[in-house]
Amino acid sequence: MVATFYISNFIVKSRLFIHVFSLPFLFFFNYNTYPVNKKITVIGAGNVGATTAELIARDGFTDVVLFDMHEGIAKGKALDIMEACPLWSSPASVTGTASFADTADSDIVIITAGFPRKPGMSRDDLLHANADVIKEVTEGTVRHSPDSIIIVVTNPMDIMAYTALQVSRFDYRRIIGMGGVLDSARFRTFVALEFGVSPQDIEALVLGGHGDQMVPMPRFTTVKGIPITELLDANDINRIIERTRNGGAEIVSLLKTGSAFYAPAAATVQMVRSILFDEKRLLPCSAYLEGEYGIAGIFVGVPVILGRNGVENIITLELTKEEKAMFDRSVSAVRAMIDTLNPA
Ligand code: LAC
Repeated sequence: MVATFYISNFIVKSRLFIHVFSLPFLFFFNYNTYPVNKKITVIGAGNVGATTAELIARDGFTDVVLFDMHEGIAKGKALDIMEACPLWSSPASVTGTASFADTADSDIVIITAGFPRKPGMSRDDLLHANADVIKEVTEGTVRHSPDSIIIVVTNPMDIMAYTALQVSRFDYRRIIGMGGVLDSARFRTFVALEFGVSPQDIEALVLGGHGDQMVPMPRFTTVKGIPITELLDANDINRIIERTRNGGAEIVSLLKTGSAFYAPAAATVQMVRSILFDEKRLLPCSAYLEGEYGIAGIFVGVPVILGRNGVENIITLELTKEEKAMFDRSVSAVRAMIDTLNPA
């Protein structure tokens, strides 16, 4: 009897202990997952856009507007996502619209609209068609959300980010392209598969344009801090690098009618979080360079610190001769496409 009393007393007290001491953490949790008064617009309700909206809504950290010129698709997917929110215990509200006015005063605008890649088509083939889409939606963004940060996902992404900067005339730190986070996640996945180790323990870095000339950086790719250059031979590393470079195309060739969207959306949301919560994550993103890496006047993938102001810092790495040559090749590919788009 006495023993039972002590035991139940202990349980009650320890529960109390947990409750009392978890209060600050609960506050932190709520604060960190739902900054009210923030608004995110996702432009384009295709697979990447809708999945991005879904992940943001599921995390419940802010309200989402899903914009698409096809009103029914925007409204239908937004409603479907919102009806999932009770099941995710998410307080987010999700609105679908074909009217730019509904996107007004967004803090972050994510541009995913554009034509997708078809099998056999490179990201670069999409250039002209998607530049027109980007111009239109950037103009809408400038009109309705002049203080927003724009994340560009539409391919060819580095060039589309440049187009968004040209059209918006925003401070260049408020325009960021999503590519490196996705490419690095693919690199991490393939390294993890090679080692049979959790991808959580892999860090990877992919620089350069988000195109076939991207520059995976084995020297800065580690398994729990150990560079893969110490763990794998050159042939294996090259095989993994090639698979990373073809990561998007591999999915396109499997799907036949569309391109990757789960990992692109997850990569975008990692960038969103870093901006929204001012996390200051160091992420490989496409940023406008003004002389860093000896490059000026274009967007290309480099390590950046992302915070509430967008690109808050660009990390300049000392590249080896070989890395620099690959980086420069990638930069030339981006520059060539910009020149095609804007003939002198
Ligand atoms: C890819 C597209 C999204 O890499 O660029 O799959």
